Amino acid sequence: MPANPSSPLQEAFCGHWLSQAVITLHHLDVPGLLQRLAAPSLASLSEAIGADARALWQLLEIAKKLNAVTQEADGHYRLTELGMRLLPEHEDSFIPFLDHLQMGYPAWVGLAHSVQTGKPAFDRVYGTDIYSYLTGNPAQNTFFNRYMAQTTDTWLADAGKHYGFSGRVIDLGGNKGALSAMLLKQFPDLQTTLFDLDQAVKQAPAVLDAAGVAERCRIVAGSFFESASIPGDGDIYLLSRVLLNWNDAKVLEILRNCRLAMPAGSKLLILEIILTENAGLNDYLSSLNLLVMFGARLRTHAEFERLLSVAGFGQLNWIAAGVGENPLFFLDAKPN
Ligand SMILES: C[S@@+](CC[C@H](N)C(=O)[O-])C[C@H]1O[C@@H](n2cnc3c(N)ncnc32)[C@H](O)[C@@H]1O
Repeated sequence: MPANPSSPLQEAFCGHWLSQAVITLHHLDVPGLLQRLAAPSLASLSEAIGADARALWQLLEIAKKLNAVTQEADGHYRLTELGMRLLPEHEDSFIPFLDHLQMGYPAWVGLAHSVQTGKPAFDRVYGTDIYSYLTGNPAQNTFFNRYMAQTTDTWLADAGKHYGFSGRVIDLGGNKGALSAMLLKQFPDLQTTLFDLDQAVKQAPAVLDAAGVAERCRIVAGSFFESASIPGDGDIYLLSRVLLNWNDAKVLEILRNCRLAMPAGSKLLILEIILTENAGLNDYLSSLNLLVMFGARLRTHAEFERLLSVAGFGQLNWIAAGVGENPLFFLDAKPN
């Protein structure tokens, strides 16, 4: 590693060293032990983990540089406020996202396969697609759904201010209901139907109850790849951050299935992160992550407009819904 990387290119070389160091802190339960042992010494922490003390010391030095851990005058280690977020039980825990990164790590090693074929390296490495994999791994599925809910709470917090929701919203791919709950709180006359795979909606009652909106949200388990399972009584068919998980062929299938289910007078409403001309490094990395994990990508305005037109939608209307630099947009459309 260059001692003083002088360009973003050189800084990029060892990015995986840093992320693996952080993920390893979690895997060895270092944050949990720092809490439970109440500021242990290196010797007692090594003993509790069954770790090589010299090796563990190096990891802790890195954690100190990242401001996750501090060391007191007597040499004992403690989590900082930021480091507390490495505890899975913390309300704003980083662990659901880190779990997603770790699950994606072997797939990212196959990035060349994804770039050559446009297909998800995840499927090749794991022998199945990500949603089937999550179905068979309930602990990771819980983290994944929690990560979704966290990003809903942070990225979509103000989205409702940019669109006048009314009537019944069919929240397609609504996960465990974080967005439905948010909208129901913002719009007191709104009704929603939370529609997602069984593995996601079964976690919804707790979220809706906690938000005090359960009586205005109907829960339906189903798949948007089966048009008959999509409820036919909505006013707004909402696809929030759903299409970014699918390739063009699958997006067209989802859009056509919605169109079949939608009653006269209803609207399709897409909420997506758009790849704009101002996109930065992180936007392109997120888009590549969607490719590696799902065989999908972030799309431009023009790419969405083409897909909607092919699927038989018109009267398209873009509404910016982002906070600051966040390139979040609503796109509403009507069946032709
Ligand atoms: C990226 S999450 C979006 C969650 C939520 N809409 C939001 O914006 O916060 C994508 C969702 O699509 C759901 N999903 C995947 N396949 C599905 C299917 N065949 N039918 C319905 N939902 C599906 C996933 O379970 C997941 O909750």
